[in-house]
Amino acid sequence: MSLTEPDRLNTADGPTVAKPKAKRVFIKTWGCQMNVYDSNRMADVIAPLGYMPTEDVSVADLVIFNTCHIREKATEKLFSELGRLHPFQKAKAQRGERMMVAVAGCVAQAEGSEIQRRAPFVDMVFGPQTYHQLPEMIAQVTRGAGLVLNTEFPSETKFDQLPEEHKPPGVSAFLSVQEGCDKFCTFCVVPYTRGTEYSRPAAAIVAEAERLVRNGAREITLLGQNVNAFHGDGCDGKPWDLARLLQCLAEIPKLKRLRYTTSHPRDMKDTLIAAHSTIPQLMPFLHLPVQSGSDTILEAMNRKHTSDDYRRLIDRLRSARSDMAFSTDFIVGFPGETDDDFAATLKLVRDIGFTQAYTFKYSRRPGTPASAMPDQIDATIQNARLAELQSLMQEQQDAFNSAMIGTIMPVLFDRKGRYQGQVHGRTAYMQAVHVTAPERIISQELPVKIEKVGLNSVSGQLAAA
Ligand code: 5AD
Ligand code: SF4
Repeated sequence: MSLTEPDRLNTADGPTVAKPKAKRVFIKTWGCQMNVYDSNRMADVIAPLGYMPTEDVSVADLVIFNTCHIREKATEKLFSELGRLHPFQKAKAQRGERMMVAVAGCVAQAEGSEIQRRAPFVDMVFGPQTYHQLPEMIAQVTRGAGLVLNTEFPSETKFDQLPEEHKPPGVSAFLSVQEGCDKFCTFCVVPYTRGTEYSRPAAAIVAEAERLVRNGAREITLLGQNVNAFHGDGCDGKPWDLARLLQCLAEIPKLKRLRYTTSHPRDMKDTLIAAHSTIPQLMPFLHLPVQSGSDTILEAMNRKHTSDDYRRLIDRLRSARSDMAFSTDFIVGFPGETDDDFAATLKLVRDIGFTQAYTFKYSRRPGTPASAMPDQIDATIQNARLAELQSLMQEQQDAFNSAMIGTIMPVLFDRKGRYQGQVHGRTAYMQAVHVTAPERIISQELPVKIEKVGLNSVSGQLAAA
């Protein structure tokens, strides 16, 4: 088949090459920030093939569902979403066009054959470690190779194969520095779906960070399933830990804020605690999952720390920087959790004073040790404990927000607000802030006098610098 005129491109030095035909990709992402990062990188990988993002699934030539497997509902959500997609694929086929469907991410990694059985119209199933091979997978599907199932853990890392970012990152950007987990908490699927710990070399991370800042980022959040276990090759040929990496990134001019997530208490090393007092760009807000306040449950979870270890850690971080605030994750209704265990969780919450917590009912994940434990907890008890924990957390969050009224906080403005004349930004503690101000303040960090606290955001006025 010969190419029509618009499909040909003249290069400066002679031969005519095929220009990729414009195609549309629809990507839907579930789960954590690492999945958001991965989805953006998938878009980068296929941009050279001519795929432009679309929000309209009905016209998409390629649909990618980037999935999360951490809790049970995610898998069922995927199948219902696939069910809704199928008619669009058929409608396109009736118009003589093709819609390729791909399932990516952790559900793909864990449930490849189940997807094949329940949704045979899916063309590609691939895990988080192989999406750099998307162009080859698309070519295989185009050749009619049947379902392409790619859930290996390849020996080469995808990070070496990924192209530069295609889209400007925005003021607040994510950067993946570490992946996988060796902790094997007994409830968690991550070590099985994301594989063992891997840290990227510092030089590649620094180059990516510099590019992000050149393209407009003023805040970078370093991502990893166990980000504070980072131990990559340093720019000086020596191994670097996360503190050393942060030190180096803090030297990038114009980069105003650094964050990292998610961390494990066992990997909060002295150097990292000290970094919170010596690196001003490092925000005084840390997400440090604790999961439970009961030592019996922490042991059954294989968390490798006690509730007092956690308390001591928080004290040390507060000594390093007095304005530190903390968010965390809790699981309620883990197998064997008694009323006393749950009371210990409530006590820990009161002792620490978190500004935010993500609270989950324990969800039984096939193949994990906890799923085979006796004393699985009844859903009614789980619901009651979840409600009690959430109400205590809400009190603490409200108290934290209210204490800010009348204070002046630095806010990094990142985009237009929802209403005319409004600009949106975030405090160091990730609270959304809206002020009435000209759009040109976007990408600046400015002091704001906090006046009002709403359910999910605070508002105020620009204060004199
Ligand atoms: N059930 C409920 N919550 C879970 N998490 C991980 N696995 C499970 C599970 N099986 C929660 C943990 C973790 C967060 C990302 O998800 O709290 O920190
Ligand atoms: Fe899962 Fe986090 Fe435990 Fe690793 S440390 S197994 S990612 S909960």
